[in-house]
Amino acid sequence: MSDNLYELKDIHKLFVKGREPVEIFDGLNMTIKRGDFISIMGPSGSGKTTLLNMLGGVDKPTQGKILFDGQEIQSLGEGKLAKWRAAHIGFIFQFYNLMPMLTAAKNVELPLLLKKLSAKKRKENVEAALALVGLSERAKHRPSELSGGQQQRVAIARAIVSDPDVLLCDEPTGDLDRATATEILENLQQLNREFNKTIIMVTHDPVAASYASTSLHLDKGEFVERDVAA
Ligand SMILES: Nc1ncnc2c1ncn2[C@@H]1O[C@H](COP(=O)(O)OP(=O)(O)OP(=O)(O)O)[C@@H](O)[C@H]1O
Ligand SMILES: [Mg+2]
Repeated sequence: MSDNLYELKDIHKLFVKGREPVEIFDGLNMTIKRGDFISIMGPSGSGKTTLLNMLGGVDKPTQGKILFDGQEIQSLGEGKLAKWRAAHIGFIFQFYNLMPMLTAAKNVELPLLLKKLSAKKRKENVEAALALVGLSERAKHRPSELSGGQQQRVAIARAIVSDPDVLLCDEPTGDLDRATATEILENLQQLNREFNKTIIMVTHDPVAASYASTSLHLDKGEFVERDVAA
């Protein structure tokens, strides 16, 4: 097993909107080691979300290769890609993206419905994931009955319930106050340190970025040197 979980080789990404092609990446190279906690900062429109989407196999580069554990993911067909994603990737978003009519436990269970698991095993996994984010007591609450921080912890539980290798987080604390953000960042750090989850987190907040072991700055589709505190 290679030390590099991801290798991105000469990634190009072009969006064509109307008649105007927009080039987001023009030969990006990157390696991500298993167990890394990487933060990515950068101005709006620099391609942070696009990069996370490509790492998660929900978007494809126009050109170039994305290797995950030595396997090219961009050439997988939709069915195989969905299976790969379900096995390896958890997504966490700024606005939680929970289903409003489902309880916390049912939200967390959703990714498991893609797998062949008994109801008993699903329940066990959901309980373990909710316990890990300290929300066992809120399992039967709906999102509207939870605070922002609690909703984000449900989203984290949903992201980890299938025990993925990677957590892709797009501004996970962007909508939270400082104290709540700290709780979420401590949750992520624990998942990285104790459970060896590889974390790639996009953030606008230098304090959030400081929880990562590697801080990167993306500008105009390239990684540039930048003091994180700047
Ligand atoms: N589906 C799409 N079609 C056309 N253009 C797109 C599409 N998705 C993103 N873009 C463009 O690609 C560029 C990068 O977008 P992206 O969402 O990756 O930026 P970002 O760094 O995440 O910005 P923000 O900090 O505002 O979230 C933007 O100029 C955006 O308009
Ligand atoms: Mg974005």
